[in-house]
Amino acid sequence: MYIGEKLIDRPFRWGIVGGGKTSQVGYKHRLGAMRDNTSFVLKAAAFDVDAERCKEFGRNLCMDEDRCYPDYKTMFEAEAKREDGIEVVDVATPNFLHYEVTKAALEAGLHVICEKPLFFEVEQGEEIKKLAEEKGKIVAVTYGFSGFELLQQMRAMVTSGKLGKINMIDLRYAHGFGCDPEGDVKSEGQKWRVDPSKVGKAFVLGDLSTHTYYMSQLICPDQKLKQVLCDRQAFVGSRYPLEDNAYVLMRYEDGAVGRMWCSCVNAGDMSSQHIRIVGSKASLEWNDMHPDVVKYQVQGQPEQLLYRGMDYLDPMAQEDERLGALHYTGLIESWSNLYKRFAVVMAAKDRGDEETVKNVIYPDLEHGIDGIKWINACAESADKGAVWVDVK
Ligand code: NAI
Repeated sequence: MYIGEKLIDRPFRWGIVGGGKTSQVGYKHRLGAMRDNTSFVLKAAAFDVDAERCKEFGRNLCMDEDRCYPDYKTMFEAEAKREDGIEVVDVATPNFLHYEVTKAALEAGLHVICEKPLFFEVEQGEEIKKLAEEKGKIVAVTYGFSGFELLQQMRAMVTSGKLGKINMIDLRYAHGFGCDPEGDVKSEGQKWRVDPSKVGKAFVLGDLSTHTYYMSQLICPDQKLKQVLCDRQAFVGSRYPLEDNAYVLMRYEDGAVGRMWCSCVNAGDMSSQHIRIVGSKASLEWNDMHPDVVKYQVQGQPEQLLYRGMDYLDPMAQEDERLGALHYTGLIESWSNLYKRFAVVMAAKDRGDEETVKNVIYPDLEHGIDGIKWINACAESADKGAVWVDVK
């Protein structure tokens, strides 16, 4: 059980780029990072494309107005001059800015917490990896759903062999909130998502399925994806050549197979993400709309439901429990658990404790690069007419 006590000497001084007043994701970052007040404290921001709105938002968050900057370059420069300058920065901007802001942040000597999908090209990921190593800094990725404690439970059951050999990984992140084409012109947050110059090679494959793909990696760390076959469509035609729906088949190195359905035109569906892991003896099934329960199905036995907060869970899962069984938690706890780990790994990196850095389980730079590989392989497969391609 975790009740917010400090895990590091003092909270990191933290800044944010993007995530302003109108953003979809900014509040999730602030809630996750500052839930406990012992990991991160928000000190500075370049929240917005609009400098005035940035200042106004900072005032409304009771921040020091002088530390609400017109852009990230000014922020990095000004903060570097202060004794109490920021040590970590979040990148919560549209996708096309992730790479340049991350690079500038590392060059300014900051740890980075970047939104998904990380960057557009694997080469950019490799370059950032080299830079982060040179600077001795961490780059983490906010796959925000991956802090739910039952995912740790699933990982423990998979890696301890409770399911037998993993044969099938069945994934889905399919909602209907992109059904209305009007949103593509009216919503600031949707406009860039359907513009290839700002979103990259894919829409829902990057926006949605990278989350679920990472969560499958978290649960099944030994499954290495080898090939994908992807068929993608733009049912709202104006989104072409991007997709608003995609089906992906997967082949893993050890012979396991999988499939992913990602969509924003799954009209009326409110069930969001589904993950089913099928082993030779038993299966696990979880859905993010009911994150407090995981189904455990052993062939030939009655189904069991494993609940959050219970003593029978693996210690790794119990470590993330905050309120105790019966008392509702949710997505914010997932983000908080992620940020808790980011703080621990960043503090370990700063004191040169590579053993801890290696052992903390969190979405790291490699997982971010895996997300880029996933998107690019799926897009390549689809654009070649839905053929098998290697994930590289
Ligand atoms: P949005 O369009 O709603 O908000 C973007 C924010 O960034 C706005 O505040 C905008 O003013 C600001 N911005 C844009 N350019 C900027 C610049 N040059 N400097 C400073 N600020 C700038 O986008 P949304 O939905 O919040 O997505 C942002 C990122 O978060 C994307 O990469 C997206 O994929 C990711 N995301 C992640 C989620 C998760 O669960 N991890 C959920 C939603 C989005």
